[in-house]
Amino acid sequence: MGPAASDFGAGRTMEAVTARHEEPTMSEALKRRGAANQAAAHVDADPSSPAQDFLPLRGIDHVEFWVGNARQASDHYRALWGFTPVAYAGLETGVRDRASYVMVQNDIRFVFTAPLSPEGEIAEHVHRHGDGVHDIAFAVDDAASAWRETTTRGARSAREPVELDAGKDGVLCTSAVHTYGDVIHSFVDRRRYRGAFLPGYRALRAPASVPGGLSLLEVDHCVGNVPPGEMNRYVDYYRDVFGFTQLVHYDDSVIHTEYSALMSKVMTNCSGRIKFPINEPAPGKGKSQIQEFLDYYLDAGTQHIALRTEDIVGTVRQLRENGVQFLRLPHEYHATLGERVGDVGVPIATLEELGIEADRDEEGYLLQIFTRPVQDRPTFFFEIIERHGSRGFGVGNFKALFEAIEREQAKRGNL
Ligand code: FE2
Repeated sequence: MGPAASDFGAGRTMEAVTARHEEPTMSEALKRRGAANQAAAHVDADPSSPAQDFLPLRGIDHVEFWVGNARQASDHYRALWGFTPVAYAGLETGVRDRASYVMVQNDIRFVFTAPLSPEGEIAEHVHRHGDGVHDIAFAVDDAASAWRETTTRGARSAREPVELDAGKDGVLCTSAVHTYGDVIHSFVDRRRYRGAFLPGYRALRAPASVPGGLSLLEVDHCVGNVPPGEMNRYVDYYRDVFGFTQLVHYDDSVIHTEYSALMSKVMTNCSGRIKFPINEPAPGKGKSQIQEFLDYYLDAGTQHIALRTEDIVGTVRQLRENGVQFLRLPHEYHATLGERVGDVGVPIATLEELGIEADRDEEGYLLQIFTRPVQDRPTFFFEIIERHGSRGFGVGNFKALFEAIEREQAKRGNL
């Protein structure tokens, strides 16, 4: 999703470029392109502006998915995505109601949890939503303070602060609050904890080999889809409860195709490390992709998580070889890409071969690609992103991307 905040507005750069009354050079044309992208989005705030940070977040501790079959999910993310299984909880570790696998790649930690019986919140979650994100957990220094600060500002508690004593492994403190749909945000303070992920988990020995060529480094952003008319409610929620600021917004005049439209606002924390775009569907001739998500997830939920890499070409090539399925773009997209973005360090032919998109704004450029949904329901998917200065989300690609999604929607009979 589109460009991030910058210290200078789009209008000023436009003036600076056009005031010269000269034939624009390539780099000026590209600046214009970046400025046009910036203008298409509405930059709302500078995240570096001082604000009282009552909720210092170190980053995303982990993302937990609730799925129908955690063992097979963990195999999938090991074999196709190159994640390493590092911890397990289940019957063998004294956990009676669930099985969980913790998978790591660089600073990304995913947990896949499945229920062991038809009763309980995990089974109900899977029954209703299919596989999906349950928890986007924050690493904090004080889980009790984080819970207190957010609940006194209106957050609904999901788990009161608790100190889990793990004996020789130390103490882990955690708490949690609700956000959109059935998604929660845990707060995890593991500074005094040396065990495998959480008490109740046991460490797994690293497998003999994991697929090479993968360099997924960290979670770049997590996108939430909410029902029509609820985007601003959650924008206010992240502002009031978490102290986030609005980075940028895109209205449906920007994010639309012939058939469908959506609106999006991007919220970020004080440090700018956490970025949460919130989408809602907008009326159009056809069904918005956001509405398709809502129809199959049956509630607000996490639509996609973007994983940052510094080698998108090598990573996507390997992911494709491993069997990960990405959205395909038409030839016309790449035929005109060079004019739009200039030099992005990778031949356009290579980008086209792999289906990678590029976009440029005032601060630089980015390369990105989107998977198809990673479960049977057309709900959650991943993005891979490589940033070169740009803090945006690829607004210049929205139209091509959404048309690609619509072609898939049409195949599913859902446009
Ligand atoms: Fe994204």
